[in-house]
Order: sequence, then structure tokens, then C-alpha cells
Amino acid sequence: MCGIVGYLGDSNAKDIVLEGLHKLEYRGYDSAGISLYNLEAGVFDMFKDKGRVDHLASLLQDVHGSTVGIGHTRWATHGKVNRANAHPHLSSSKRFIVVHNGVIENYRMLKRDFLSHVRLESETDTEVIVHLIEMFAQTMEAPEAIHETLKLLEGSYALLVLDQQRPNRLIAAKNKSPLLIGRSDRGYIVASDLMALGKHSADYAPLEDYTMTVIERDKLAIYNRDYIEATLAFEPMDFDEDSAERGPYPHFMLKEIMEQPLVVRKILSHYFDEETLVINEAIVHDLRESDRIHILAAGTSMHAGLIGKHLFKILTGKPVEVHIASEFAYNPPALSDKPAFLMISQSGETADLRACMSHIREVNQPVVTLTNVRTSTLAREADHKMELLAGPEIAVASTKAYTAQLVVLTLLAYAVGKQRFNIKQELSTLAHAMETYLAKYERIDTLAKTVLTKPNAFYIGRGLDYAVALEAALKLKEISYIHAEGFAAGELKHGTIALIEENTPVFGIISDKRIALNTRSNLDEVKSRGARTVIIALESLSEEEDDIVLPDVHPLLVPVMTVLPTQLIAYYAALHRGCDIDKPRNLAKSVTVE
Ligand code: AGP
Ligand code: GLU
Repeated sequence: MCGIVGYLGDSNAKDIVLEGLHKLEYRGYDSAGISLYNLEAGVFDMFKDKGRVDHLASLLQDVHGSTVGIGHTRWATHGKVNRANAHPHLSSSKRFIVVHNGVIENYRMLKRDFLSHVRLESETDTEVIVHLIEMFAQTMEAPEAIHETLKLLEGSYALLVLDQQRPNRLIAAKNKSPLLIGRSDRGYIVASDLMALGKHSADYAPLEDYTMTVIERDKLAIYNRDYIEATLAFEPMDFDEDSAERGPYPHFMLKEIMEQPLVVRKILSHYFDEETLVINEAIVHDLRESDRIHILAAGTSMHAGLIGKHLFKILTGKPVEVHIASEFAYNPPALSDKPAFLMISQSGETADLRACMSHIREVNQPVVTLTNVRTSTLAREADHKMELLAGPEIAVASTKAYTAQLVVLTLLAYAVGKQRFNIKQELSTLAHAMETYLAKYERIDTLAKTVLTKPNAFYIGRGLDYAVALEAALKLKEISYIHAEGFAAGELKHGTIALIEENTPVFGIISDKRIALNTRSNLDEVKSRGARTVIIALESLSEEEDDIVLPDVHPLLVPVMTVLPTQLIAYYAALHRGCDIDKPRNLAKSVTVE
């Protein structure tokens, strides 16, 4: 769940690694550390501490040129957030230096069986790796020693290793955690995601699980699991640097909320050839042939899946189940004869989904991954992939990727089903309506300030509005730390209504004519018990007193519209409470551990 980056070449490693860490910081931000080759002293120096990359940078002010270096931003899994547990970690003689992303599940056993004589400096699982390498290196060359160590590791890792005895060599290895390598005529860069590679690579390649890469200035050697030399397929770098910049916005989250109409348009231009929807025929075929579709996802992507279920039901008539990935992975349901699986993941790296993949592979049925990261592991492991095209999403709280998921799911369900309407026109109308609403985004500021004064809040709705209520509540929780729950509007009175006190905020979402009045009654029920209600309604269903009125759009696209004010409510609530909006506490952008 962290970011690692390493550089070897003719440019200044300090600048490149630090810049990479800044770009990767959204992946984990408890602590940061770096090791750089000190050309004058002829050794690798190490700097690390708890806190952000900016703090690390302040420790490096007197450090100058270097040609080799590695860095890490941590999202702690084992051991407190403190300097000792921050990466890099050193072997006892200080010969080897390691940064690690992932979890070594058998670290206790490795400690007991191989390292009982070694004094460990940290509480991390990572530290065993560097001591094992040193142990094996007593009798063999470093690459071999690393290979022997990797054979013992269970769990996930992306690793970078430096050796004081061979300062012109950088060794990388991975299993499950993502790692990519980029190259240019100035050198090599290795990092957890494309964002850190972009500027410094002419071409790049994702590394495969169980491979080890030995990087020297004039030579790149890849070894597979059996320590046999392998090859890598590089492709040209086409990462748009500007798309990962904050621009004039104070936070990435606000920028990403505002980008959503553009994302809808980007999806339209990608998936339509003039008026024809173009979706990989093999995907459409596999889903049509299936007797049940299982949607697997986590967090916000799972909430998109709940809406996807509704879309598939209406447009294809197929039975669809939505699963929380971490549940499906170890408690899968009884499967029908011809199931198909849709994985939804912004990052394409979520470990809970990777665990599902292992199970699904046993039943040998088609898997389609919907992801925002084309090069991601889940995109590569699936039979088919569909790109979300939201552009880099940097804020930890997902907004534009969620919208992209809804739109791509709509297109997919439309392609699989037989119902016909002018979906392209409806999506263009949607993009325009979103723009109209977002043009006045600042209006939400006062509402969020005056209403969200209590530690608890509720979002309620029915049908699709219920699915959006779940997402709205998650967004509010994760960035403003206000405890919020999404509820089926009719369910609140079956117990949870006991929590309603004077001025408890209850947001009601109303976008479906058939059930608008029922939801209004549920809002009246809580109002009579003291709640401060806020009504979010489509214009055609709105009443004079309603707080937020949204333009009408096609009934299947309504969630893309109704989610907008809820994202802004979360944003402003967090802003007023002085929260770190783009990097909320305890979280990380891509959750690569189970
Ligand atoms: C979204 O705001 C969250 N930070 C989180 O729930 C996220 O959606 C979840 O971890 C799934 O991530 P993925 O889409 O990258 O698989
Ligand atoms: N498991 C390691 C630790 O807790 C690495 C965590 C990470 O990926 O940031 O330090």
C-alpha cells in the first residue's frame, strides 16, 4: 500500500527519487525514507522518519549529486508509525539496504527459523528480508542471495535492494505488489506506478510476479522464479504528466470532482465510433452466454457495482450478484454452470480482488476487469479489460473513477442487452447537466457548514438512491471523519431511528418517481424526531423547500447526477473541519494488502 521508487543512471538520483516519492505519496503517507549513493564518501547514506515526503526532503537539504537511490513512502502494516519502522531497512553489517511494499505473512516463522541470532531494529515484517539476504550472501553472490531469500517469502512484496559492495547495481523483485520499470538514455527507474516513471522513461514494462531484475548502467537482466534469464516486453511511455497535476484547485479531490463531465465525454469518444458503440465482442459474447454475472469489488467500486447490478437487471434481464471482494475470496457463493465475473477496480491492484482471482481461476470462467489503470495487475490477469478513462485519480477518496465506473457499466450493460435508446445522446445530455450543476459548486459550502455540526449523519434513499446513499456516507466518513451511514429509507425506522437526536443531519436522495413520496415520508418521520433533513431531488420531483435540486437526466444515469452534491458535501465538511482532504488519516489509495 505504499510507494517505492528507485533510480540508477546519469541524472541526479536524489531529485528523481524525491520527485517520485511526492508522486507516489497518495499511496501511503505514514513515513518516508530514502537511501542515496554518496559519491564523495563512496557509501550509501540513509535518511528516514515518520511523516510526509516534504519532511524527508527537509532532511536532505545538504545532500547533493547521486547516481543511485531508492525511496519509500509507508502505509504501516506491521509496527507503529515511527522512525525505526520507516524504510529503508539495513542488514546487521549495513551492507544491504531494502525498501519493501507489501506484507511478509511468514515473517515470524522466518525470524524464528533463520534469524534467532540477529538483533532486529524494527517491528516490521520487512526487516527479515534484508537479514536473510545478508545471511545467504555469506556464501554466494548478492543476486543469488536475494533469489534464495525470495524463495522463502510468503505474502506480497515489491522490493528494491542496494548493496554497499556494488553501488552501481540496483536489484528489484516483486510478487503481488505492483512494480514497473522505465528506461531512457539517462538510466533506469523502477516504481510502484506509472506516475513516478512518466517523465524519466522513453518506454516501460510492468514486472511479472516472481521475477527479479538486476539493473546496471549498461545491462538489465531479468530472472524468473527458477532463476533463469527472462525477457521483458517494453512499450512506449504515453503518460500525460499534466493529468496528474493539481492545476488551479486547492485539492486533487475538488479537481477530480470538477473533471467528471469531461470524463463522461472521454468515455463517449473512446467507446463510440461515430454513432456506433464499440465494445470488445468477446466481452459481450461472454456476458451474453453467462447464466449469472458476479460483480466483485471493494469500497467505492463495490458501490458502483450495486448500481451496475441494477443496470444489468434492467438492460439485460440477467441475474447479477454483487460481492464484497474480501468476502467472496474466502466465502464464495455456490456458483451456477456458466457464471461470468466482472471485477471493478480503480487501481487494478486491490489485494482482496487478487485473492478472488485465484479462486475464480479454478472454475475457469471468463473474467472482465473494469479498471482505470491499463497496466495494472488485475487488468493483465483478467481475460478481458475495459478502461475507465478517468485519468489519474490522486485524491484517496474516489470520485471521478466512480463516475467512470457507472458510465462504463451502463455502456457494457447496454451492449450486452437488447434494449435500444439513444444512449450516446443521453450521455451527452448527462455531461452537460453535470457541468451546469457543478458550475455552482460553491453553493454547497454554506449548507455543509451549517448542517454538519454533529458527529453523526445519515444518507437515505430507495433503489438506486440507496446505492448512492451508501457511497455518499462512505465519502463523508473517509475524508471528514464524521460518522455517517447510508440506509435504505424504509429501513431506518426498524431500529436505527433510535439514533436520531436534535439536529442529526439526515440527507434524503429522491430521484425515482415511483418511490419519491415514500422517501419523503421517511424524511418526515425523522424530522418529527428532531433531525435536520436535507433533501436532494431531481427537478421534476422537487418541492419548493428542497435544499438541492438537480437537472433531470435519463433514469439509468441518475446516480451519476445525484452523487455530485454528496461528493461536494463531503469535500466542504472536511474543509471546514480542517482535515487533510487528499490524504485522509489511516487510508491509502490502493489497498494492496488483504
Ligand atoms: C474510495 O473513496 C476508497 N478510498 C476505497 O473505498 C476504494 O474505492 C477501494 O479501496 C477500492 O479500490 P479500487 O477501486 O482501486 O479497487
Ligand atoms: N509491511 C511493511 C511495513 O509495515 C511495508 C508496508 C508498506 O507497504 O508500506 O513496514
